[in-house]
Amino acid sequence: MRAEENVLLTQTGAGTPMGELLRRYWWPVTSNGRLLRDPVISVRLLGEDLTLFKDKSGRIGLVDRRCAHRRVDLSIGIPTEEGLRCMYHGWMYDVNGQCVDQPTEPEGSHFNEKVRIKSYPVQELGGLIFAYLGPEPVPLLPRWDVLVWDNTYRHVGASVLNANWLQCMENSVDTSHTEYTHGWWFEYHVLDRGGGTGNPEHDAIAQEHADSFKVRHLKTEWEVNEWGIQKYRLREGEAEDTPDWTIGHPLVFPYFVRLGGKIRSELQIRVPMDDEHTLHLDYMAYCPGPDVEVPEQDYVPYFEHPLFDEAGRPIADYVLAQDLAAWWSQGAIADRENERLGVSDRGVIMFRKLLMDQMKIVQDGGDPINVFRDPAVNERIDLPVNVLPGPVTRSAFSEKDDHRMSLTEMGDMTAVVGDNAGFKLSHYHMDRYSPALNQILEIYRRYEEVRLQRA
Ligand code: FES
Ligand SMILES: [Fe+2]
Repeated sequence: MRAEENVLLTQTGAGTPMGELLRRYWWPVTSNGRLLRDPVISVRLLGEDLTLFKDKSGRIGLVDRRCAHRRVDLSIGIPTEEGLRCMYHGWMYDVNGQCVDQPTEPEGSHFNEKVRIKSYPVQELGGLIFAYLGPEPVPLLPRWDVLVWDNTYRHVGASVLNANWLQCMENSVDTSHTEYTHGWWFEYHVLDRGGGTGNPEHDAIAQEHADSFKVRHLKTEWEVNEWGIQKYRLREGEAEDTPDWTIGHPLVFPYFVRLGGKIRSELQIRVPMDDEHTLHLDYMAYCPGPDVEVPEQDYVPYFEHPLFDEAGRPIADYVLAQDLAAWWSQGAIADRENERLGVSDRGVIMFRKLLMDQMKIVQDGGDPINVFRDPAVNERIDLPVNVLPGPVTRSAFSEKDDHRMSLTEMGDMTAVVGDNAGFKLSHYHMDRYSPALNQILEIYRRYEEVRLQRA
């Protein structure tokens, strides 16, 4: 790749070709649970510094980071019934950025009417707060399946990494990394260099976890479809009719990958904060199918998960941390001029081409893919994915379909039913950082209960 092409692909700012493409989409910036905890937060999105707030009447606004008066940071402001007040002299803005009060100006002054700061539309869906920074007419907020499923419990794990968003997205079409990143690297850190868990039983399960990822890919394929790129894999020991090969799972253009599961489905969302930083949101939706009722949920919890331990070393013992380590370690902006791409990188090349093609469509005045304007199409967009929630027919814990989580849930479940032997195993999943861990374990417990009743 030429240096100019790498610049073109990695810029996020307004006025750049990629920045303009990215501005055609609604971007999630946080969850409603986070706003319940912190009603005013700073947001950096596509190189812009903004303030997101929920006023005391429940309206959500996304406005300029700074007050028009003397540039104080509004993200440390005071939410009110009508909007957001600056902490310095109390100027107040509504969700449209209009200044509606200037308490330190003389009575009868209409100066406030002339003051308006930048604001962008926001919408809430599936517990996520989405923002749109692009031109009008504003497209519909896409109703992706997991955002609108019933009987689903959700939480969001977040991390900020010092890396361009494209590195994270390229991973979604880099199928074979799983062998090394999640298999061999995990094994090296936990069992080899880490010296094991100190418990032979746990070591055996950690080994099984590593081995489940170390399986070689026999075939990998990619295909551009309506929503992005569908990716397919066939691994050693699998039959050609495995859903991983016949259905695959999608990279949804331009910013997330959708993973399926019998209980847990996932959107791994990569939000470009600027050219060198990404907010990674792992949106996890626990849907055990129609037979099991999930716990009630008023809001979607938001939790941060760390990338480094106390000694500053990369955390290597849960799957997403392993991916994140690969992405930030490519550098803030990967040096693509010096890459040597192989046959296994065909998906990466396909994604870069798709980005270039869609950039061109925007430059020519068209709508890129996944910009929806027809409400009938947007009722619920079901994505093709290898594993879907289904009726309770078999254990949630030992099936290959859910191999990424089987270790964790098996461990957590035994902890829940009082068997300490399993407790440490939960260590290998990022849910260990979630405030909703107990609700999620409850879903698995209920699922197992129904299964055992039927067995
Ligand atoms: S700086 Fe915001 S009110 Fe003065
Ligand atoms: Fe990965």
